[in-house]
Amino acid sequence: MSKDKLWGGRFSQPTDKFVEEFTASIDFDKRLYRQDIRGSIAHARMLGRQDIIPQADVDDIISGLEEILARIEAGDFDFSVSLEDIHMNIEARLSAAIGEAGKRLHTGRSRNDQVAVDIRLYLREEIVEVIRYLDLLEDALLFQAETNLGAIMPGYTHLQVAQPILFSHHMLAYVEMFSRDRGRMEDCAKRLNVLPLGAGALAGTTFPIDREYVASELEFSAPTRNSLDSVSDRDFALEFISASSILMMHLSRFSEELILWSTSEFDFIELSDSFCTGSSIMPQKKNPDVPELVRGKTGRVYGNLMALLTVMKALPLAYNKDMQEDKEPLFDTIDTVKGSLKIFADMVREMKIKADVMLEAAARGFSNATDVADYLVRTGMPFREAHEVVGKSVRYCIEHGKRLEELTRAEWQAFSDLIGADIYDAITLEASVNARNATGGTALVRVKAEIERLKKEK
Ligand code: ARG
Repeated sequence: MSKDKLWGGRFSQPTDKFVEEFTASIDFDKRLYRQDIRGSIAHARMLGRQDIIPQADVDDIISGLEEILARIEAGDFDFSVSLEDIHMNIEARLSAAIGEAGKRLHTGRSRNDQVAVDIRLYLREEIVEVIRYLDLLEDALLFQAETNLGAIMPGYTHLQVAQPILFSHHMLAYVEMFSRDRGRMEDCAKRLNVLPLGAGALAGTTFPIDREYVASELEFSAPTRNSLDSVSDRDFALEFISASSILMMHLSRFSEELILWSTSEFDFIELSDSFCTGSSIMPQKKNPDVPELVRGKTGRVYGNLMALLTVMKALPLAYNKDMQEDKEPLFDTIDTVKGSLKIFADMVREMKIKADVMLEAAARGFSNATDVADYLVRTGMPFREAHEVVGKSVRYCIEHGKRLEELTRAEWQAFSDLIGADIYDAITLEASVNARNATGGTALVRVKAEIERLKKEK
């Protein structure tokens, strides 16, 4: 049995069947087939150009690999567990098809640098996808901000009503968060874009390879600078999962708000039926499953980050088999982040807001108390003193079941004779919102300008 292995030469006993299954990665690394073939073609071309192997062999290798690619894509390729991983499955099949030439492909290369290049190629493509989904979500947020421009909702601190804000302002807060996520993804893509191939098993290779050529063939910005680091580095995967964890944290906070806003207690929004499910016992229920599940899936991405950090912790240089455990957390993170972003983009676009309910909620909880204090400050009263005066008037309102804007002139006068008839116009919800018009504030003109800026940047 060991005779079937590509590395069988020094073995006299076959691999135990269960050990074979236990150590194989083919079940999950087969998704690297395209990148593995692309890397091998670039490597073979370089071997030919450098006269390390004959050009005729290069041609056979390339057509053989293209044939394998077509077969895998057609679902016509038997992956074998006894061939352990995607690299050996493809190489063994190539040698079976083209003979000698196929056996020359692995010259000057090791699976250690091969797997490193495959993952980088794969992740580089996936980051482009993640960014595309981030863009779709930002578009949906901008759509909501624009469609509902002018709608006022309560802004919260401690989940207690704080000050009125525009619903659009709230949506744009998420645009800021997701655009930072995009920046982190772009940053990660830039740093991962170096070629580890040519590091060999760990020390480099004795053949006169041309790494710069392979780097440019595979669109990497340059070859890596140290062979040991090239085969033992998984920082790029960790960076991606870290950036993904922050991204999922943002989605989870958004989920939490959508779930709260969908309750009958808040009742600020209605999620489309297609993103909710019912209950098998309670006929009235419409549950916000999608945001709940995304909030839940945040946990698995954090788990993936912990898993890979722990795999890498204390690993001596260079490659260790432990590192085969990098793939499942990485792939699961990619799938989870892409799926969550995609479903969120659609759900956010289809969500309907209940502007009247939001407005009424914004009018409760003395959300305009700061505006009364600011009014007094404009008449010359120091802010701390104004704070005290308004605090007393709020207590009076609570005792008398009134809102601030319902106090009579005489009642206001009792708190401060600096309060004139113009107080009423100064503390409407619209006035409160529009007064906050410095850069970054919730005033309608500011938010409008932000929407325009963000749309132009797209
Ligand atoms: N399947 C292996 C992995 O994913 C490929 C590298 C194997 N290298 C080795 N020396 N066993 O890590």
